[in-house]
Amino acid sequence: MQGKTLVVTGAGGVLGAAVARAAAERGATVGLIDLGEPVDLGGAHVRLGGVDLTDLGPAQRAMDEIKARTGRLDALLNIAGGFRWQTLADGDLDAWDLLYRLNLKTAATASKAALPHLIASGAGAIVNVGALGAVKAGAGMGAYAASKAGVFKLTESLAEELKGCVRVNAVLPSIIDTPANRKDMPDANFSKWVTPEDLAAVMLFLGGDEARAVTGALVPVSGGV
Ligand SMILES: NC(=O)c1ccc[n+]([C@@H]2O[C@H](COP(=O)([O-])OP(=O)(O)OC[C@H]3O[C@@H](n4cnc5c(N)ncnc54)[C@H](OP(=O)(O)O)[C@@H]3O)[C@@H](O)[C@H]2O)c1
Repeated sequence: MQGKTLVVTGAGGVLGAAVARAAAERGATVGLIDLGEPVDLGGAHVRLGGVDLTDLGPAQRAMDEIKARTGRLDALLNIAGGFRWQTLADGDLDAWDLLYRLNLKTAATASKAALPHLIASGAGAIVNVGALGAVKAGAGMGAYAASKAGVFKLTESLAEELKGCVRVNAVLPSIIDTPANRKDMPDANFSKWVTPEDLAAVMLFLGGDEARAVTGALVPVSGGV
């Protein structure tokens, strides 16, 4: 990935930080965007904290700054997102708006903001993060699964819109091995969960030249689950 610039959103989170580190290890320059503080990789990487990707203005300013400081933008990895579990009977309806904004609107907004730069690179790629839990939603997963199902459709639709120009794919993780999941499910068999590093490898494959023939794919990444 030498000479390439990858943008990682949610770069202050567990998966975002792992993807950013893996991209840097492969030689890419990384644009790191997060609502909070992105991971610090040092070097020539561009760290932009306090960026709300539900809002097009800040998203455009962030993408423009990364392009200006690194000279190009080859791939966008849309990792920003979030999770809430709640039943409809006992839950708060505001969670439906919240998860729509966190999971779908951030991906659509960041993609729109990055698009002119990805097109200019000549072989741009977008990689979204859906969720296997949105293929068949369980109890309490309604708002989350609906927002991630929206990510499936954004991926398919944008892949068609940009065919021959920018590739658009998504990974569908099951449970990622994160400290938060270990805390929430202390009795689970953690060894079956997909590691952030293994998921990062799949995302970087989809975002890189070796996947040049792949677009519109929704790729399950479930480890041993
Ligand atoms: N963990 C799992 O088991 C699992 C399974 C399937 C799919 N996923 C998906 O994988 C992705 C990463 O998960 P994760 O566990 O690494 O989550 P995480 O640690 O919570 O990281 C998500 C990051 O996104 C940032 N973010 C949220 N809203 C944003 C906004 N409006 N603008 C910019 N950045 C924003 C958060 O910033 P703040 O913390 O500052 O809000 C956070 O740093 C998410 O899309 C998630 O839905 C996770």
